[in-house]
Amino acid sequence: TIHPVLLCGGSGTRLWPLSRKSYPKQFVNLMGEESLFQASAKRLAGDGFAAPSVITGADFRFVVIEQLAALEIAPADILIEPSARNTAAAICAGALVLEAREPGALMLVAPSDHVIPDPARFRAAVEAAAPAAEAGQLVTFGIRPDRPETGYGWLELSEAPDAEFSATPQPLKSFVEKPDLAKAEALLDGGMHLWNAGIFLFSTSAILDAFAKHAPETLAQTKAAVEAAERDLGFTRLAAGPWAQLEDISIDYAVMERADNLTVVPYGGAWSDLGDWQAVWREQNPDANGIVATGPATAIDCRDTLLQSTDEAQELVGIGLENIIAVAMPDAVLVAHKDRAQDVKKAVAELKAKG
Ligand code: GDD
Ligand code: MG
Repeated sequence: TIHPVLLCGGSGTRLWPLSRKSYPKQFVNLMGEESLFQASAKRLAGDGFAAPSVITGADFRFVVIEQLAALEIAPADILIEPSARNTAAAICAGALVLEAREPGALMLVAPSDHVIPDPARFRAAVEAAAPAAEAGQLVTFGIRPDRPETGYGWLELSEAPDAEFSATPQPLKSFVEKPDLAKAEALLDGGMHLWNAGIFLFSTSAILDAFAKHAPETLAQTKAAVEAAERDLGFTRLAAGPWAQLEDISIDYAVMERADNLTVVPYGGAWSDLGDWQAVWREQNPDANGIVATGPATAIDCRDTLLQSTDEAQELVGIGLENIIAVAMPDAVLVAHKDRAQDVKKAVAELKAKG
């Protein structure tokens, strides 16, 4: 069996104002009836999967319980981080706790903010990845790139994927996290790279060995935080003292870029990281004029524009707009050029500085 480890400690600042510090995007119903977190948990439940572990911040522990209960999923464990220290520490903690419970278990690390519309196909790719993970490989999942995205990791293939883009594991030559635009353009043109889906399959022993080799400080601090953790009512509260010492670094930089036992399984199904408003626009099927209007929103002579009103009582109207993101909530309104979607996080930082 495979143990899902769901990461949901991110703050999703690029999706302000829908995503807030107190209620980040993964818990919001951004698209459809359930939250992205719920969709992620559901995708990895059922045959072949053990009960999930969830790693999150203290503020979100009850949201996690509630949203899982609504799906009738009982978590194996909920790990609580005293503060967000990025994915290397979160994954290391998840691996240590799982290793103590079941040595050598296979863990599937899954972000909770992705859209994967075909769960059956995704589960088949995970199954295809299992033998490599059992053999000690760190398995990544590769998405066919269609733009020079600088917000993703890029995976260098050793051979071009077949025409069907079938989920056949192959050795990964190199891992490049968040290249600059010139580099991303070159990787796209070269045709030998896939995007890193941000989903990983490995055994607890393989990933802990990789931490020992490439990020020993992170391993030592995380071990201390796990050993001094408090357990109460199904929560594992990682110890704040050692946790505070941890470097803020993602698994991609801390381990993946440095490891030499990487495998990639191409994934041909649809996948999207709903990281910013441009992605939300793209994923909501823009009409022939490129318009997405949700809630009480009306577009007149607009092109390539997202108009989203979250309040039934608040009309949002756009006239003659091109490449605009407009999101209206009762207490906040965002209006931005679509190409500047990444900069929403700067706005959040500025608002925070203002207090
Ligand atoms: N528990 C916990 N604690 N979760 C965290 C933390 C943390 O401190 N920081 C981030 N996460 C969660 C986020 O909620 C998200 O679900 C996931 O970990 C990935 O973090 P992101 O911050 O969204 O990473 P990214 O999108 O910039 O990059 C990663 O994903 C890309 C694909 O979506 C990388 O793995 C890239 O290589 C990859 O292409
Ligand atoms: Mg992301």
